[in-house]
Amino acid sequence: MTILVTGGAGFIGSNYVLDWLAQSDETVVNLDKLSYAGNLQNLASLKDDSRHVFIHGDIGDAKRVPELLAKYQPRAVVNFAAESHVDRSIHGPGEFVQNNIVGTYQLLESVRAYWAALPASAKAAFRFLHISTDEVYGSLDKNDPAFTESHAYAPNSPYSASKAASDHLVRAWHHTYGLPVLTTNCSNNYGPYHFPEKLIPLVIVNALAGKTLPMYGDGQQIRDWLYVKDHCSAIRRVLEAGKPGETYNVGGWNEKANLDIVRTICGLLDGLRPRVDGKSYADQIAFVIDRPGHDRRYAIDARKIERELGWKPAESFDTGIAKTVQWYLSNQDWVANVQSGAYRDWVVAQYGATVAA
Ligand code: NAD
Ligand code: TYD
Repeated sequence: MTILVTGGAGFIGSNYVLDWLAQSDETVVNLDKLSYAGNLQNLASLKDDSRHVFIHGDIGDAKRVPELLAKYQPRAVVNFAAESHVDRSIHGPGEFVQNNIVGTYQLLESVRAYWAALPASAKAAFRFLHISTDEVYGSLDKNDPAFTESHAYAPNSPYSASKAASDHLVRAWHHTYGLPVLTTNCSNNYGPYHFPEKLIPLVIVNALAGKTLPMYGDGQQIRDWLYVKDHCSAIRRVLEAGKPGETYNVGGWNEKANLDIVRTICGLLDGLRPRVDGKSYADQIAFVIDRPGHDRRYAIDARKIERELGWKPAESFDTGIAKTVQWYLSNQDWVANVQSGAYRDWVVAQYGATVAA
């Protein structure tokens, strides 16, 4: 048996591929276009593992994707591929429209044609699992109830709008064509291999480098935080037991203000790697101009996935953030390669032979 994972060289996708192969011998075909966010070094431990087939390509390739589906005959597609950074979407929304909306549309069309021609039993068992975000629901006020699966979509950034559009396409391909889709809407992930443009890795990396820790606006914006390995276990569970056509909200029950997140990281670093001048890393916090259209609060009500599929997160924020800070301290080479851009050469230098043409 085989699954096709798209975007499996990015932060969550690479954690998912590693997690999957740690628990199963089912082959993973990993299709990723290796944008700046794709890093095959994350998958270095799979270099000689025949259960992982890496394909350098685009989900929007209407010729290549059908060929891959025909060749590898996956029983499921897990779609992580997307542009994912809100700040980048503000400065260059076109890439988000292209990859997240047009790309998902084209992938759905390729998968639909493949699925329609499957024998009846394989057709019934097939799943298309689309990975989405809580950001599609828009912003909450302080005392609003958390997002349930029936909350109206109200995206505010080019990123969240592009994800919302892709979710709607996935939904329509189920209702119109019967494609057995599942959608997960997850809160902010953190953990190993997180690209240091996002808040948590950026703060760890900047703190250690003696740089400022930028807090947008007043730093009181609230996010729910989920350790990435918990997200991986949720996706595995939804793929295994989710009901086609359903969506599942995935969250960590960890609502935190950004400033509290940054202070927690500084406190951990103060203990594990004290500054030479004896001062706290928190002295590096600098309040900067706010992000345009910045959503104030996201919160996930994750009771449906717990009730129907028996999933809940294993990590608290305290345990997850401690593991994450420790991972960055122990993987300074990974950070250095990302910052220098060397991770992009690494594909050819060390992985080249196993990258399928
Ligand atoms: P990421 O930016 O780290 O990785 C995205 C990966 O997708 C990269 O490897 C990139 O090369 C690849 N990719 C992009 N466009 C592609 C295309 N057209 N064809 C093939 N590959 C393509 O993102 P991430 O943080 O790992 O997020 C993965 C998914 O999870 C995204 O769909 C994102 O919207 C969603 N999500 C992320 C979070 C989070 O906190 N990071 C939370 C909820 C949902
Ligand atoms: P981010 O990690 O970009 O995720 P998202 O925007 O998808 O939630 O940002 C998390 C929060 O941290 C968000 O409210 C923006 C804020 N933020 C900062 O205050 N400073 C920063 O340098 C970054 C990258 C984010």
